[in-house]
Amino acid sequence: MKNFSAFRIHSDNKGTQAGIEQLSIDDLCEGDVVIKVKYSSVNYKDALAGSGRAQILRRSPLVGGIDLAGEVIESTTGEFVPGDHVLVNGSGLSETHDGGYAEFARVPKDWVVPLPKGLSLSQAMIIGTAGFTAALCVHLLEQNKQKIDDGPIVVTGASGGVGSFSINILHKLGFKTIAVTGKKNSFDYLYELGATKVVGREKIQIGDGVLEKTRWAGAIDNVGGDTLSALVRATKPWGNVVSVGIAGGVKFELSTMPFIIRGVNLLGVSSSNCPQTLRKEIWNRLGDELHPDQIAKIHSNTVKLEDLPQTFEKLLNNEIQGRTLVEVNSD
Ligand SMILES: NC(=O)c1ccc[n+]([C@@H]2O[C@H](COP(=O)([O-])OP(=O)(O)OC[C@H]3O[C@@H](n4cnc5c(N)ncnc54)[C@H](OP(=O)(O)O)[C@@H]3O)[C@@H](O)[C@H]2O)c1
Repeated sequence: MKNFSAFRIHSDNKGTQAGIEQLSIDDLCEGDVVIKVKYSSVNYKDALAGSGRAQILRRSPLVGGIDLAGEVIESTTGEFVPGDHVLVNGSGLSETHDGGYAEFARVPKDWVVPLPKGLSLSQAMIIGTAGFTAALCVHLLEQNKQKIDDGPIVVTGASGGVGSFSINILHKLGFKTIAVTGKKNSFDYLYELGATKVVGREKIQIGDGVLEKTRWAGAIDNVGGDTLSALVRATKPWGNVVSVGIAGGVKFELSTMPFIIRGVNLLGVSSSNCPQTLRKEIWNRLGDELHPDQIAKIHSNTVKLEDLPQTFEKLLNNEIQGRTLVEVNSD
């Protein structure tokens, strides 16, 4: 097999360099299944890794990209045969193992998810880790008995990837949602995804009491920091708050009062190391009853490997609405 293009990241305590390199299959981390990558995507974590804004790689160098979808071309296991359409998300891609920003990937068989019925390869990557995580959040809300009649679910960082899919999937299931965004020009977009109400970020700044007047029944939070604290302190009794992201900060201050007086649950979600059985279940649901009906609207643009550095900058500057698909192989 001839050499192929890969967006590779070199990262150590002196800094990060990333760009297109020509690799051979033998340059890739070992694995049972070789996949011709058709599409990948751009997640917040990809932008942090590729720009060097945070230390995501736990070995270097690595091909970037925490998502990939494509066609199996070689397999040392009977579980997959050439021609199978598959995807991989998280699981160590671009952290400990070469990721999806290359024309070929070689991965352990246990990470490979058969493409769910009901999704094309491009749809699977528009969804990608962001949409998968949104569906995982919904699964956690369901498991913790969040009911539609309890009231609205507030979603922060709403115009981003996780936020957009959270709004769309919750709407599909019948939940009322409050979309919180910092982008004034994303209000119409969020209503089109199904948000019941769209508010600016400043509207959820509340007092600093250990408990505040309740305003929502649950939350999916992509922002972290003081925002997460505010969300928990204004959640109705027995509501569930899922902590997903850190776009606005990592640390937060909170008392135990929301937990012991109101029985509020603060739930964590970790897509990268999600158990594989649950990962497959969530992907199958995304192809079926959780299938987002606004995938085309959430897909904001398509880029090539060489466009990644500018795309990372835009995403980290909060200039991107929805999801960016990466077309890796166009043949
Ligand atoms: N736990 C997990 O398994 C998991 C999985 C995937 C992603 N994540 C995390 O979830 C977050 C969202 O990921 P994503 O891929 O959806 O990223 P994204 O597309 O960049 O969306 C992030 C959104 O957060 C909002 N935001 C950005 N900077 C902010 C700031 N300084 N203060 C407040 N809000 C800000 C923006 O939305 P508005 O302009 O609409 O406010 C932005 O669109 C990231 O922190 C990511 O690392 C976690």
